[in-house]
Amino acid sequence: MRVHNKSIIVTGAGGGIGEGIAKRLAAEGAKVIVNDVNVAQGEKVVKDITQTGGTASFFAADVTQSTDMQALVAAAVQRHGRLDVMVNNAGWTHRNRPALEVPEDEFDKCYTVNVKSIYLATIHAVPEFRKTGGGCFINIASTAGVRPRPGLTWYNGSKGAVITTSKSLAAELGPDNIRVNCINPVFNPTTGLGADFAGGALTEERLAKFRATIPLGRFSTALDVANAALYLASDEAAFISGVCLEVDGARCV
Ligand SMILES: NC(=O)c1ccc[n+]([C@@H]2O[C@H](COP(=O)([O-])OP(=O)(O)OC[C@H]3O[C@@H](n4cnc5c(N)ncnc54)[C@H](O)[C@@H]3O)[C@@H](O)[C@H]2O)c1
Repeated sequence: MRVHNKSIIVTGAGGGIGEGIAKRLAAEGAKVIVNDVNVAQGEKVVKDITQTGGTASFFAADVTQSTDMQALVAAAVQRHGRLDVMVNNAGWTHRNRPALEVPEDEFDKCYTVNVKSIYLATIHAVPEFRKTGGGCFINIASTAGVRPRPGLTWYNGSKGAVITTSKSLAAELGPDNIRVNCINPVFNPTTGLGADFAGGALTEERLAKFRATIPLGRFSTALDVANAALYLASDEAAFISGVCLEVDGARCV
């Protein structure tokens, strides 16, 4: 049990990568709060975890709202007595299209869901981490933040902000024994955002073109990302902070 009894929040865990992270951490002994705006999906993930002997409960919260984020952190403390790890996974993208065609409201949503959520998680979780002598943030960024490609410009920029912000926080919060790391997954076509990243239906032709750019010859899975999150959340990573772990089959080299 690599994260036995750790109190962990996973945002946007009602599906996709977040669901995979929540399930993997619970399987390794964590007490997980599954967060999402989608209640039905989040509760389904909790049911899956508890039915297999894991410990999880749902908390509905919109990570772009300060009062929601505050309540989410408070729920972890109330239910588990403390908060050890916060996985900021919830994210959103505009559809793949030329930068000049992305409407202003979609730009705003991208930065609010992807970047402001990190600000809010920091503001509300750090005081709890300080009370117990430390903590750990795992921020799900993207290969898009280090190797941007056309069509996702504003999303790419938001993930670049997540990476730089995480490194800055690692430097600033290190003296409080708070670790801050990022994971950069490459494309995963099975998630809710897959078609928007690709800019259209996931035809075999479109997938093959993208797959050819990944040296290990396949896309990432939620389990690939969850395994990286498990390591970063565990005590094995006690001296790892300020890093960005690419889970990308060497796409970014
Ligand atoms: N899928 C990929 O190819 C890929 C690649 C690199 C990085 N990422 C990143 O991984 C993360 C997860 O993406 P995914 O592909 O699993 O997406 P997804 O759409 O399958 O899952 C995202 C979940 O977040 C929830 N969510 C959205 N806005 C929210 C909010 N404001 N508050 C709370 N929950 C909210 C959604 O309801 C959904 O359940 C995102 O940060 C994304 O940018 C994804």
